[in-house]
Amino acid sequence: MAEAKHLKTSWMDLVWMLFLVGLALLPPVKEYHKQLVLLAIAVLQLFEGKLANLFPRRRGWGYVVLLKILLATLLIDHTGELSINSSYYPIYYLPVFTAALHFEALGTLIWTAIASAAYSAYLYPAMQQYELTRESVAELALRILFFFLAAVIINQFATKSRRQTERYQRLAEELAESNRQLEKAQAEARRSERLAALGQMSAGLAHEIRNPLGVIKGSSEMLNEKLANSDPLSSELAGYISSEVNRLSALVTRFLDFARPLHAHTHPQEVTAVMDRVLKSVAEQWKGGPVRVMKNYVPGLPPAMIDEGLCEQVFVNLIQNAYEAMGENGGELQVEISKAWSEGRNVIEVRLDDSGPGIPEELREQIFNPFFTTKKTGVGLGLSIVSKIMDEHHGSIRVEPAAGNGTRFVLYFPAASATVENEVAAT
Ligand SMILES: Nc1ncnc2c1ncn2[C@@H]1O[C@H](COP(=O)(O)OP(=O)(O)OP(=O)(O)O)[C@@H](O)[C@H]1O
Ligand SMILES: [Mg+2]
Repeated sequence: MAEAKHLKTSWMDLVWMLFLVGLALLPPVKEYHKQLVLLAIAVLQLFEGKLANLFPRRRGWGYVVLLKILLATLLIDHTGELSINSSYYPIYYLPVFTAALHFEALGTLIWTAIASAAYSAYLYPAMQQYELTRESVAELALRILFFFLAAVIINQFATKSRRQTERYQRLAEELAESNRQLEKAQAEARRSERLAALGQMSAGLAHEIRNPLGVIKGSSEMLNEKLANSDPLSSELAGYISSEVNRLSALVTRFLDFARPLHAHTHPQEVTAVMDRVLKSVAEQWKGGPVRVMKNYVPGLPPAMIDEGLCEQVFVNLIQNAYEAMGENGGELQVEISKAWSEGRNVIEVRLDDSGPGIPEELREQIFNPFFTTKKTGVGLGLSIVSKIMDEHHGSIRVEPAAGNGTRFVLYFPAASATVENEVAAT
C-alpha cells in the first residue's frame, strides 16, 4: 500500500517535471531568469511536503504558499514586455491551489487575495508607460475573479475529502478498539473453557480417590484400636496414616467444592460491608509481617448484585493471596471501592493493590488456572474459584501491575440499580 502510494507520487512528480519542461521550452527561451525561476518552482513543488513539515501545523504551508507567490511574481516579471500582460499569469493558480488544499475557507480567500494583490502590483509600472483602458481593467478583474473561483471550488473539494478522511480515521480507531475488546473477551472465554475442562477432570479424579481413602481411613482406625496396647510404635504409625488421610480427605472435598456447579443467589447488597468483614478476619488470622490496610470507599455507592457468601469467598482468597505475597516483610494493602461504567452498564469496581513482589507478565494468564501455584503449601485453587464466582456474578476480574512492584486485582460487580432497571426494561 505504502509502495503503491510512493509510485503514484513519483509518477505525478514526473508529469509535473514534463509540464515545467514544456514551459521552459516555450518563448521566451533565452531568458535565463525565467528558466531559473521555473527550476526553483520545480524544486519547491518536489519538496513542498518536507518543507511544510519542518514547521508546526499550518505555518509550514503558509511559507510554501508565500514562496510560490514570490516565484510566480518573479516569473511574470521575466516573461513579457509588459509584465501584467504576460501569458504566464496562470502560474498564480499554483499558490492559490496549494492554499485551497491546505487551509480552511477563510485562509484560502486571504491567500488568494494576496496572490491577486501581487499580480495587480504590476499595474503600477504599466500605468507609467501606458494609459489605463477600461478593457484592460476588466481583463485584470476577470483573471482575478477566476483565481477566486478556482480557489473556492478546490477548497470545497479538499475540505470534503479532509472531513471524509477524519471520519475514516475515527472509524478505524473505533474498529481497533472493538478488536481489542474482542480479543479480551476471547481470552476470557478460553480461560473459562480451560477451567471447565480441568474442573470436570478433577471432579472425576477426586470422586475416585474418595472411596479408597474411606477404606484406608477405616482400616487404619481399626489397626490403631487393635494395636493400642500391644505395640505402641505400630499404633503411632497407624495414627499418622489416619491423620494424613484426614488431610487428603479435606483436600478432596475442596476439589469437589471447586468442581461442583455454583449457583449464585444474588441480592442487592453493600460490597463495602462484606469487604470490611473479610479484611478483619484475614488480619486476625495473619501470622506474617505487619500489613497496613488503607481503605478508600467512595461515599454514596449503590448496592451491588452479589451472593454474600460467594463474594466473601472471593475477597478472602484475594486478600489472603495479597498477605501471603507480602509475607514476612509485611507491606501495604490498598482497597478502593467505587462506581464505574463498563460495557454499557453501571458496575461497582473493587481494586486491591498490594506491595508484594508482583506477578511476572508471562504468569498473569496462568494464575487463574486450577492447581497453578508457586507456593510450597499452596493448592492453586484460590484464583480459579474466584474466577468462577465472578463469572457466576456476570462480573469480571483482571490482574495488572500496581504502582511500585506490587499486584493489582480489579473486579467489577454489576450494580443493583442497573440490573433492576434492565429487568424493568425487559418486562
Ligand atoms: N497478590 C499476589 N501477589 C503475587 N502473586 C500472586 C498474588 N495472588 C496470586 N499470586 C500468584 O498466583 C498463584 C495462584 O494463586 P491461587 O490463590 O490460585 O493459589 P495459591 O494461593 O497458590 O493456593 P491456594 O489454593 O491455597 O489459594 C499463587 O501461587 C501466586 O504465585
Ligand atoms: Mg491463594
